[in-house]
Amino acid sequence: MTVSPQRLLLCCLALTLTGCTGPARDAEEAPPTATKPTHGAAGAGDPYYPTQGNGGYDVRGYDVDISYDPHRKHLDGDTTITATATQPLTRFNLDLRGFDVKSVTVNDEQAEFARKHEHELVITPAEPIGKGDDVVTRVRYNGEPTSTDEDEFATVGWLTTSSGGSYALGEPHSASFWYPVNETPRDKATFTLSARVPKDWVAVSIGKQTSRRTKDGWTTYTWEETNPAASYVTTVAIDKFTVERSRLDDGTPVLSAYAPGQEGKRELEARAEEIVEFLSSKFGPYPQRTAGGIYMSDSISFALETQGRPTYASWADLDTVVHEYAHQWHGNSVTIESWSDLCLSECFASYSEWLWAEAKDDTDLDRFYREQVDQLSGDDSFWESKLHEMGAGNEFDGMYGKSKLAMHALRRTIGDDVFDQVLREWPQEHQHGNASWPEFEQFVSERTDVELGEFFDVWFRGDEIPSDEHLYPGTLRP
Ligand code: TRP
Ligand code: ZN
Repeated sequence: MTVSPQRLLLCCLALTLTGCTGPARDAEEAPPTATKPTHGAAGAGDPYYPTQGNGGYDVRGYDVDISYDPHRKHLDGDTTITATATQPLTRFNLDLRGFDVKSVTVNDEQAEFARKHEHELVITPAEPIGKGDDVVTRVRYNGEPTSTDEDEFATVGWLTTSSGGSYALGEPHSASFWYPVNETPRDKATFTLSARVPKDWVAVSIGKQTSRRTKDGWTTYTWEETNPAASYVTTVAIDKFTVERSRLDDGTPVLSAYAPGQEGKRELEARAEEIVEFLSSKFGPYPQRTAGGIYMSDSISFALETQGRPTYASWADLDTVVHEYAHQWHGNSVTIESWSDLCLSECFASYSEWLWAEAKDDTDLDRFYREQVDQLSGDDSFWESKLHEMGAGNEFDGMYGKSKLAMHALRRTIGDDVFDQVLREWPQEHQHGNASWPEFEQFVSERTDVELGEFFDVWFRGDEIPSDEHLYPGTLRP
């Protein structure tokens, strides 16, 4: 029997009304395991963070609705996750840390749920889901959001500022501290937020602000990011912000938010046009739909490249802003597949600071490189940090220092023409997608006659200072 896909669809739609179960499937198509429970995996497959994210579905969009009272530190959440099943599912997981979960529905029917381990929300829908079907999950939850300082770099999660405001920030995880999520960079999705706060507070997020309404002493802000975003670059920041709007020359809307005392960052923020223009000349057209920054008044340990609107600590300077804008191509548009690929994001963002210094301050990068190598040649701990396959927990160690030397050595090894070509073509090739570091090595190798196997091994996977051959390629030769 042959049935056109349209016929099959109609037939299935008709049957859903009476419950689209077993007999709806063509006998030939029915998988032999159709009666066995099919559970979505409790992890998305990252070797370093095996329980991060989940399997069995692909999220298309998040619709996060929160109401937050800074005085009570209480969050009421109502999040809808629209996904496509990538396998038949009788059960699947989301990631959520803390909170009381009040109810879960899947495709508008009440679903059973359980909390497991640190962050697994295990959902059993009333009806099994077929491969390719829509899975619309709505989770209602509330409580006091939490954070963790298990990460040696920074406290991540739901953070509170000295002014009583709060913001969600961090990697490799932060979204699960305020909404149920498939917390893996592999599953990028669109993001909309409705945030309700007492009317003397402002809620800022990523994307475009689509509305603001005040009623009964509370203001609801809605935000919409239509480019796919990895969950770790989504955020909400709640403070007594001064908000300003402008546009880049190409029309991109800029929205800047200054926490109390940070108004002095306006001067820095005014460089956005010049920075985006400069980076576009290296990496191709700006891939995001918005620009601008969220300037927090606290001295958090890091800035973060939240999508189309980075979040800054009070110490942010011009290098920081260049770095975070560079991430809009490297990290946000081209997103890592696994945390071991972090160099795809950080090595480019860090080296962008050097590209900026070269173009704007006439810095002689070769000379600067040699000085750095001289200073650091005896510092084993500097060379020890690997830039790829660094091991769980070590992802960031080499990303802000060794990365710059490695990228500059790569440039001198393959020459400016090939390097420039790679900088332009790589973000284009993987725009709004995911990629791995080995794919990048392959990509470069395909564009040069230089044999790069050993170079990449010693610089990116090595844990000691490279031999002179790789330390001083091309014009770097002393
Ligand atoms: N990716 C951030 C940057 O390069 C830095 C960062 C690392 C970070 N770990 C973090 C930021 C944890 C916030 C929380 O700018
Ligand atoms: Zn960075």
